[in-house]
Amino acid sequence: PLTTTGELVTRAHAARTAVAAFNIITLEHVEAVIAGAETAGAPVVLQVSENAVAYRQGRLLPLARAAAVAAERAAVPVALHLDHVRSDRLLRRAADASFSSVMYDASRLPYQENLAATRAAVELAHARGLWIEAELGEIGGKGAHAPGARTDPVEARAFVTDSGVDALAVAIGSVHAMTTRTAALDHGLLGRLRTALEVPLVLHGSSGVPDRELTAAVTGGIAKVNIGTALNQAMTGAIREHLGAHPDAVDARPYLNAGREAMARTVERILTGVGLTLA
Ligand code: G3H
Ligand code: ZN
Repeated sequence: PLTTTGELVTRAHAARTAVAAFNIITLEHVEAVIAGAETAGAPVVLQVSENAVAYRQGRLLPLARAAAVAAERAAVPVALHLDHVRSDRLLRRAADASFSSVMYDASRLPYQENLAATRAAVELAHARGLWIEAELGEIGGKGAHAPGARTDPVEARAFVTDSGVDALAVAIGSVHAMTTRTAALDHGLLGRLRTALEVPLVLHGSSGVPDRELTAAVTGGIAKVNIGTALNQAMTGAIREHLGAHPDAVDARPYLNAGREAMARTVERILTGVGLTLA
């Protein structure tokens, strides 16, 4: 059934576990994430990034409507989240498109500007009943997001209090868009952030983090684990392999099916490998 991100994350946070949030781009992503979650018996968040909206030619509704219908019919709870939003215009469209939550990303701005923009976004989001996550400290790999960036616990505490966000994405060593699972997390820093903050913490760039590191991060206070690249890696690899073996292929279904199945296996493997099945 379709549920809300706030509900899933709040429940996970209280139970000291986490909910996984997978980035979706195509209908195959939607179907694969739900299939993998059903096999694992885990609730999931389907998240659409502002970049994915741009890929969908600026149209939010077609993918969102499809994801919402798929979620309603799923055997596990599924929520819809809008990820890495930078435009107020997109934020204003979220609630009407079945999203229950947004991640507002002003993390490339200096602290005071990030705070002011996030505070305004929190007002917009809460007025629409949306749960809102924001980010402090750059998480490496995308543009201004430098690897090696770290969130300062003292600054984070002030940021959460002054902005009113419902959850905070923290930089503790993960980097966006890694294609090897080799990131080492700063568990000492996570512990200090956990002590300093009462809101649920979010880990971005989780594709590059090994299962055991993710499990330790969840034990240490991460309540939402964002995964994107791992799905695209699985899909693209399977399609490349299929087309290599069938150079004369014409029908799109066999290779899209191979891509979808590879993504579903990846989702199931991460959910069971990290132990996110009981949230
Ligand atoms: O917001 C999305 C996540 O941070 C995805 O990161 O593609 O490196 O797994 P990833
Ligand atoms: Zn991210």
